[in-house]
Amino acid sequence: MVQISKKITRRLGYVDDGSPKPLYIRFHRNTFQRDLIDLGYYVDVDTHQTVLADYDRTEGNYPPDELPRPTDDVETLREDLEVHGYCLVADALSSAELEVFRDRIDAQAKGERDAAVASYTSADATGMPTNQFLMTLVNKGQCFADAVELSERSVAKGPLLDSLLTEMLGNRFICNSAAAAIAGPNGVPQALHCGQSMIPKPWPPWPFECFCGFLIDDFDFDNGGTIVIPGSHRILTDAGTGPLESLPKTTNVAAPAGTALIMDGRLVHGTGTNRSDALRRLLILTFHKPFVRQQEQWPLSIRREVFEKASPKLLERLGFQAWHGGLGGYEGAGDGSFAPLRDGYLPIGELPARADEATSFTARDRLARGNDKTLKSLRDKDHPLARD
Ligand SMILES: [Fe+2]
Repeated sequence: MVQISKKITRRLGYVDDGSPKPLYIRFHRNTFQRDLIDLGYYVDVDTHQTVLADYDRTEGNYPPDELPRPTDDVETLREDLEVHGYCLVADALSSAELEVFRDRIDAQAKGERDAAVASYTSADATGMPTNQFLMTLVNKGQCFADAVELSERSVAKGPLLDSLLTEMLGNRFICNSAAAAIAGPNGVPQALHCGQSMIPKPWPPWPFECFCGFLIDDFDFDNGGTIVIPGSHRILTDAGTGPLESLPKTTNVAAPAGTALIMDGRLVHGTGTNRSDALRRLLILTFHKPFVRQQEQWPLSIRREVFEKASPKLLERLGFQAWHGGLGGYEGAGDGSFAPLRDGYLPIGELPARADEATSFTARDRLARGNDKTLKSLRDKDHPLARD
């Protein structure tokens, strides 16, 4: 078993010293990807070295024809997602679209640096930040809002991506986050993790979350394209709540700019080390089933002017939709179940016993349809619910 650094142990908030364990702690701890930390897929904070030696050096780990390659053949994409846990959608962005995204990301990144609101991540061996991270992108450009919709307006292969994500996540999936990662030279690799680590294990044999990234630059071994462990989605599912024995070798995603990378939320992955001189940029959209709480909670974080011009599809995808019925999910009946708090929506409040003259609640249009008939039937039968 790998020794875990004190800092990480503290962050986990629990030390396994043989004393009686709090209820269910083992399962909650797995949402921190403790199983991957135990295998050494992180960088020691003191030495700046990967604990499991060189998991970020991947060239030669697999023959190229064993791994997914960019394609727009839907059967191949499905098979890659099932077998490897990720696929590469060729030319998801046209070259003109790629320029639009690249220019907007660069301008926004500079603007955030100049305005002293930039977020920096990762660090080199001296502790100096190497990467910039842009978050909540729906507020920062129409092309990003279009991408969240997976709309053909800005994403040439948007309909193909939308349909694959619907296969992965079911209808009415929502956007978890919309971000851009700009990786500069020599950042240490990210601790490996899974997109759906917010879901406690055991995981069922299907994803709750799905990553859809757009390569803004060519990705390769040298510039540290996203590290993945092919097939790990199945291994983590099969392991249930038990420890992981070991995992197959890592690889870096290698594909041209404009490619979309779709990853099953159970796939082990992380940012690689950029050993080139140039920036490596990635637009990162993550989506999940509609009953999971979002990382970027758009109903709280969206800018008013973006909300006001958003299309119905964008609003639904940002989570401005009610969801009812647990894992099955359906658009339910009831005040709280079909409308979110939004401009102009008037929820039912505290009512007096005689409320027939009450204010016109937004819910009434929907609920009144069957209610008059139901109440009449109840009254006809002198049902206790209908007695005044
Ligand atoms: Fe990730």
